[in-house]
Amino acid sequence: MQTDYKLHFAYGFYSYIYKIYGLFMDHLKHFKNIFQDRVTVSPAELCCYSADGSQVKGKPDFVIFPKTTDEVSQILAYANSHLIPVTARGAGTGLAGGAVPVKGGIVLDMSQMNRLISIDINNIQVTVEAGIVADKLNEALKPYGFFFPPDPGSAATCTVGGQIANNASGMRCVKYGTTKNYVLDLEVVLADGSVIHTGTNCLKSSIGYDLSRLYVGSEGTLGIITKAVLKIAPLPKFRKLVMISFPSPENAGLSVSRVFAAGVTPSACEILDKTSVSILTKLDPDVIFPRDGDVVLFEADGSSKNAVDEAAELIASACEEISNSILITDDPVKMKEIWDARRLLGAAVSKLDPTKTRIYVGEDLGVPIQKLPAMIAKVYEITSEVGITPMIYGHVGDGTIHVGLFIDVLDENEWKKLDIAADKLHLAAIDLGGTISSEHGIGAARGAYMEKQCGSAFFVMKAVKNALDPNGILNPGKLGL
Ligand code: LAC
Ligand code: ZN
Repeated sequence: MQTDYKLHFAYGFYSYIYKIYGLFMDHLKHFKNIFQDRVTVSPAELCCYSADGSQVKGKPDFVIFPKTTDEVSQILAYANSHLIPVTARGAGTGLAGGAVPVKGGIVLDMSQMNRLISIDINNIQVTVEAGIVADKLNEALKPYGFFFPPDPGSAATCTVGGQIANNASGMRCVKYGTTKNYVLDLEVVLADGSVIHTGTNCLKSSIGYDLSRLYVGSEGTLGIITKAVLKIAPLPKFRKLVMISFPSPENAGLSVSRVFAAGVTPSACEILDKTSVSILTKLDPDVIFPRDGDVVLFEADGSSKNAVDEAAELIASACEEISNSILITDDPVKMKEIWDARRLLGAAVSKLDPTKTRIYVGEDLGVPIQKLPAMIAKVYEITSEVGITPMIYGHVGDGTIHVGLFIDVLDENEWKKLDIAADKLHLAAIDLGGTISSEHGIGAARGAYMEKQCGSAFFVMKAVKNALDPNGILNPGKLGL
């Protein structure tokens, strides 16, 4: 009798599918027993958890909404013993696919673990659950005259846990530092479900490896952050904006080291190239941006009016020789209008050309500040060579350049050009001694550049990952690991 190989193959394939389906049903039953309506496998909901602000896509098999550390621990212990991938998600505002489950499995939606556990002004710290929204924390701190300074553009929606997992930063970080500077202690659930604390409530501590720093920026690949003790800072009483227009983006870049060399650390320092300014003026023609060049917004803040006035004057005189025009204001209404417009830039880009879409790739470059003019020139050189429209904005005070690349998403050829441009931009940043990600993280979007950027240190990262997550269940497919 002849063997029907086709049938055998088909039988093997379908038995495999049934086995997988059976396992899926077992897992679902297990999670439903514990979490009832706090677990979902509804296709529509899974779809909502398949993306973030980037182009990275990946559908989970289950989304679970834990409420306690103990629940996170139970989920991880089970997932680890059944080899199910687990990806933590805060608000999904990431721009590199960090919270996208590219290998399926479980998404832990941390948004229900959102308690502000304590505000301890006498010890200048707060204790929060990971799912608290950044702006909510700052609203609660305002009456005390304090704030949690790291302020990503998504602060109105992003969670503090997501901020920590990405070492997020933003406009104030040039003076106040990034998220890593504020983390005193983290409660972390490890891959096997055990729970650790990475630090203490002390403002400083020297106890061997700095595990808090290890978890900051680890993007959920080494454990799930459930609670955090964070240092806070007093709110500055006075602020002044110095808006300077320059004849070229390179001069705008040059202004940054001139201001630092004049002995001023601005509390914000944001570049808006001509294209960015034209987008903002199309969005709201009443906002008073100069129309004659590339702009840098400097802000000075502090507890004394005289010191802030003096800093603003120093900024202006450091830039005078290389600029077109300078406007200094402490009018709160004007300042709010200008900063609100800047915050809207990412969303306002469609104003440039409604047929084009801004794609988040190669958008988060960082260089030492003296290399800003060279990096800026390189962005224009690469994009013009490839034939893609760019815009440049970002936190140049700490060397961050956000490159906005626009394409017609229906045109295959434009996607190819985009890939080439993004590749060249990443390599150019590395060549200038810079970084492929200043603040948005690596996720699944930039993993391919990790070895090039980190060299042998990347193998140390791999060793740490293997030690802490030997089964590779924690956010697999991220950081290029
Ligand atoms: C910003 C985001 C894109 O700076 O990081 O607006
Ligand atoms: Zn930014």
